[in-house]
Amino acid sequence: MKEKHVKEASAKPSTEGDKKMWLYVAKIAPLVASWPCVQHCFLLASSLVVAVYVKESWWTTEDVLRTSDPAREGLMKVQSFGERIVLFILNVVIFGRLERNLDDDDMFFLPHSVKEEAKILWRDGAAVGFYTTKRKGSLCGDGMGVCYLLPVLDTVFVRRNHRRQGLGLAMLRDFCQTFREDEALGISWPISPAMYQVCRKFLVAHPEERGRLWEAEPPGAWGQRVNIWLKVQLQQARRPDCESG
Ligand SMILES: CC(C)(COP(=O)(O)OP(=O)(O)OC[C@H]1O[C@@H](n2cnc3c(N)ncnc32)[C@H](O)[C@@H]1OP(=O)(O)O)[C@@H](O)C(=O)NCCC(=O)NCCS
Repeated sequence: MKEKHVKEASAKPSTEGDKKMWLYVAKIAPLVASWPCVQHCFLLASSLVVAVYVKESWWTTEDVLRTSDPAREGLMKVQSFGERIVLFILNVVIFGRLERNLDDDDMFFLPHSVKEEAKILWRDGAAVGFYTTKRKGSLCGDGMGVCYLLPVLDTVFVRRNHRRQGLGLAMLRDFCQTFREDEALGISWPISPAMYQVCRKFLVAHPEERGRLWEAEPPGAWGQRVNIWLKVQLQQARRPDCESG
């Protein structure tokens, strides 16, 4: 989905220091403030430290991402206000700033709305990734009056030091299992190069899913989707030196 690739300079935090970062926070603050239950949450940010004010205390971002609840392990649905904050920090602070090379053209995702369906990936007492979905029949955007024609995996992220350990694959598998009754599933356009590789590995291991996964633009009509396996094959064919899968 387009919103995950907004790259306007004005929204991009600059490396010039705290002042610019404050501006960035000022820009995202209204989005957070639009959540009904977030009146008690404020963000403090500098180029080195980002802290969140929740329940009358300041928390470092890493503290916010930690949990003492041993039941929180693996992929868990975002349900509580606290989990929304964790999702926000992972998306906007960790992915959007701390773990992104600000000089390159990497994608980033806009803050998720309070209604966004999301799962957080918990591992050894900390949140290390997330994915979000758009339900079939849900509105594509405010005021658009158009609904998704298929379930869509919209945004997905794994923290840098947990990558290449099968977590992206696990989230894609979970998405496919969650919507096992649907004939077609989307991954929102454009798919990043790393995510194409995840899809490729997944589809090599699960041939039965090859006809089901589509790179889709909303609302996901036939003219707005491309079969991912086909695309992966075409990319492979253009690189004859690579092993075929
Ligand atoms: C895309 C992303 C979620 C993948 O997460 P991950 O946990 O590293 O993925 P996995 O470990 O499950 O990767 C499975 C396979 O995909 C391939 N793969 C994954 N990332 C790759 C990369 N950067 N380069 C080449 N191949 C890659 C590999 O074959 C890998 O298996 P291997 O490690 O045994 O070789 C992660 O890189 C990320 O968060 N990127 C930034 C956000 C993003 O691009 N989101 C996708 C939006 S469409």
